[in-house]
Amino acid sequence: MKAVNATKSHRIADLMAIIYGVICILPLLFVSIYAADKAKDVTTSFPGQWELLTDNSGVSAMHLILLPKLNKVLMYDATIWRISKIALPPEKMPCRVANAATGELDCWSHSVLFDYDTAKLTALKIMTDTWCSSGGLTVDGDFVGIGGYKDGATTVRYLTSCEECDWREYPRTLAQPRWYSTQVTLPDASFMVFGGRGAYDYEYIPPEGQTNKEAIFFPLLKDTHDRLPNVQPPLVEDSIENNLYPFVHLSPDGNLFIFSNNRSILLNPKTKQIVREYPILPGGSRNYPASAMSALLPLRLKLGKLKKINAEVLICGGAPWDSFYYAEKHKKFLPALQDCGRLQILDPNPVWKIEKMPAPRVMGDMMILPTGDVLMLNGAKTGTSAWNDAEEPYLAPVLYRTKGPKGSRFRELAPSNIPRMYHSVAGVLPDGKILVAGSNTHDGYEYNAKYPTELRVEKFSPPYLDPSVAGLRQQILVEASDEVLSYGQQFSIKVKSNERILNKEELTVTMYAPPFTTHGISMSQRLLILVIVEVVSDVFPGVHNIVAGAPMQGELAPPGYYLLSVVYNGVPSVSMWVQIK
Ligand SMILES: *[C@@H]1O[C@H](CO)[C@@H](O)[C@H](O)[C@H]1NC(C)=O
Repeated sequence: MKAVNATKSHRIADLMAIIYGVICILPLLFVSIYAADKAKDVTTSFPGQWELLTDNSGVSAMHLILLPKLNKVLMYDATIWRISKIALPPEKMPCRVANAATGELDCWSHSVLFDYDTAKLTALKIMTDTWCSSGGLTVDGDFVGIGGYKDGATTVRYLTSCEECDWREYPRTLAQPRWYSTQVTLPDASFMVFGGRGAYDYEYIPPEGQTNKEAIFFPLLKDTHDRLPNVQPPLVEDSIENNLYPFVHLSPDGNLFIFSNNRSILLNPKTKQIVREYPILPGGSRNYPASAMSALLPLRLKLGKLKKINAEVLICGGAPWDSFYYAEKHKKFLPALQDCGRLQILDPNPVWKIEKMPAPRVMGDMMILPTGDVLMLNGAKTGTSAWNDAEEPYLAPVLYRTKGPKGSRFRELAPSNIPRMYHSVAGVLPDGKILVAGSNTHDGYEYNAKYPTELRVEKFSPPYLDPSVAGLRQQILVEASDEVLSYGQQFSIKVKSNERILNKEELTVTMYAPPFTTHGISMSQRLLILVIVEVVSDVFPGVHNIVAGAPMQGELAPPGYYLLSVVYNGVPSVSMWVQIK
């Protein structure tokens, strides 16, 4: 076992802790290294709780990502409508020229930084159209967005994570237009982008300012493009697709799991070889506009056992393959899919294990909670993505307990009273609440409609924020904990606690990469359950030291910023930002 890698000046405390540990808890150390997966959760009847944070998010949040280092999320929709609820401030003048031929100006902001504590808005100025685009974070926690509409389709844009920063845009970077494409973070913190309308291929994102000459053909996206039969040539409005915003997850072996419509493969991003093809997930279509939800389930790390790490993908909901046609052409809204498929992607002979949600859901968001459970929220029970193409908003989130016994994993929670239909988003905040924003099912901003363009932002408190278990919340002492992690190294977290002794069996330490959320897809979302090497209680009165192992390599956790949480009896601490590189 290595010595504690204390980067801060707390060596005396650590030394005291070690001496104390050697005398009092030595026998426990060895037991606890090998104690696996025993942490139990307190279960309460608390169904969760909603609160309204603000009436005006400035823009209707079609895209959202939490930015490290700031207390803020980045939210944006599109420039195409030339309208929002927040004007460009004087310091961002001149206005954007919306139409070069007519000289029409657009003096609205279409992207904002949003303080999730105070609801304060900072208007940003974007020139290219971000409509239905993608995004992700660099190793330094800065934002890289890809694609969009028209002038935005081949754009790569950058936003440094700082209070005063604004966009840098490179409109002709990509070889192909990327509208409804999926961005994924690779083990070296670079990006790839997959698909988009009419683009059956992928690209590697070049360094800032450079351009791509060509994309790499990717037949899966072509083969899974649904069209109505007997329409020749296929008309755009009769094209159903179901292959847009494909689900892309980085597998612990460094390959990419890619799911489109009902098929999936594993792609080696270095050799461009398709390593394997998985069984079809039956039951309907899962990608835009059929818009199911998907997550790579928490990766439980093991000491020095890289090869044995399990990777499971969960896909829930979606729509029958022709649902979009009925919604779009006949305003007939078919029930969404109610099933989930769960697949062990590194198993030699994996099969989809099917489970049933309490109700059907399309256009939902699937967020991994700091506890490792999954929250499904937003969306509708009938119809599909696209304008005015869904009904029966699904107002209640559903908690999915990833470790629970099959048949008792789902629990429907307290409903909101705000429908979050097409173009709505969610994000997990450091305090464990879920930020919920957006919903715009119109071609423009429309407030007098059954489902108006939504500018209200809510927070949802999941059951683990039940006030009656608040005493179990550990408080991370950020200044006394390691904030920069190295691959494969041990690091230390100090927590202030009500407990005299932290029972290691009831303790979980997790690390969460905040995703870019749009259209029901949460790009590059992942959560790691770390190995706890030792817990030394009472290094100071009421302060405990947790020594954990950082992930072994970028295939498990690409370099960048993560939210680190200490979970005790199923109750997560407020998390702290750590950077691994
Ligand atoms: C998979 O999707 C295609 C395209 O929608 C469909 O034709 C096919 O029947 C589906 N396969 C299964 C097994 O559901």
